[in-house]
Amino acid sequence: MPEPAPDPVLHVPVLLQEVLDNLPVPAGGRVLDLTLGLGGHAEAILARADAQTRYLGVDRDPRARERARARLGSDARLSILPGTYEDVWEDPTFQNLMHLHAPEGLDVVLMDLGVSSLQLKDPGRGFSFMTEGPLDMRMDPDSGPTALDWLAEQTDTTLADAIYAYGEERASRPVARAILRSLAQGTLRTTLDLAAAVYTVLPREVARRKKQIDPATRTFQAIRIAVNGELARLAGAITAAAMSLKPGGRLGVISFHSLEDRIAKQTLRRLAGIYDGPGRTAPEPLPRLLRLIHAGGLKAGEAEAQANPPSRSARLRIGERLAEPQPTRTTR
Ligand SMILES: C[S@@+](CC[C@H](N)C(=O)[O-])C[C@H]1O[C@@H](n2cnc3c(N)ncnc32)[C@H](O)[C@@H]1O
Repeated sequence: MPEPAPDPVLHVPVLLQEVLDNLPVPAGGRVLDLTLGLGGHAEAILARADAQTRYLGVDRDPRARERARARLGSDARLSILPGTYEDVWEDPTFQNLMHLHAPEGLDVVLMDLGVSSLQLKDPGRGFSFMTEGPLDMRMDPDSGPTALDWLAEQTDTTLADAIYAYGEERASRPVARAILRSLAQGTLRTTLDLAAAVYTVLPREVARRKKQIDPATRTFQAIRIAVNGELARLAGAITAAAMSLKPGGRLGVISFHSLEDRIAKQTLRRLAGIYDGPGRTAPEPLPRLLRLIHAGGLKAGEAEAQANPPSRSARLRIGERLAEPQPTRTTR
């Protein structure tokens, strides 16, 4: 299979070698990529797979699907579907494709969570505090409220709670008050206005002097997660993905921050029958569907971390479907 040309938008898929090494696609393999993005992982996986392989890519962002189609659309092994990894399971087209191509289950499922470089680098999408853009932040620009609409529905308390829960921002209360004050004054229109409201509480110069991350990072992350409902149903989506595997099939989940990773880790451990609750014994047995591969997850090596800074915060967690559900370990 010839190596395809690189995408013109610079997008380097993270942990690519770890994905290729640990999510092997057998001859005639069946692959589901629930976060197709710009098709970076898809391109590399397809370049190594045989002609009988089928690759189904799902993404909620129509522009990402367009880019992936432009990059890989001529590959007859690939089908691209709109949808979210939470809801695609109910989509009749998805169900038909699964029935047709993977009646016995999937060999590989990949979930590369979060936003893509295409989304982050386009000022018009409103994800970045570095460039001026509308306060949008929707991964699917055709669905749900924009960040500005969402902010307009918040109170000091609900906004502070979201900024604390999804951004782990310790100054969440004063930051929330500053944002809503700016909104009430009619000065909150763009990403730079939002960042400016955060800096009134957490001055950027102080962070720079202390070589800390930009103080707007945590608040932008929190609002983005809230607007896109990123964490609310992640555990259910990981569980559905694990259940769609055939025996020996593998699920890989790549997370980019501690909140996502905690959910990925806890869900995969639970699916592996590992009890993490309080006390030493599970109140009721958990069926054991998976075994964990590299229990602590895989992180970028030094070379990748240097070459592609976003990879520094990425972690790949992998579960392999067992032949039969096994009795659980009810004690820790
Ligand atoms: C980190 S990027 C994936 C990059 C991709 N692996 C590549 O190599 O090009 C994450 C993608 O997941 C998509 N996404 C985020 N949440 C989603 C969800 N709930 N359902 C479907 N797609 C989602 C985003 O639109 C984005 O394109």
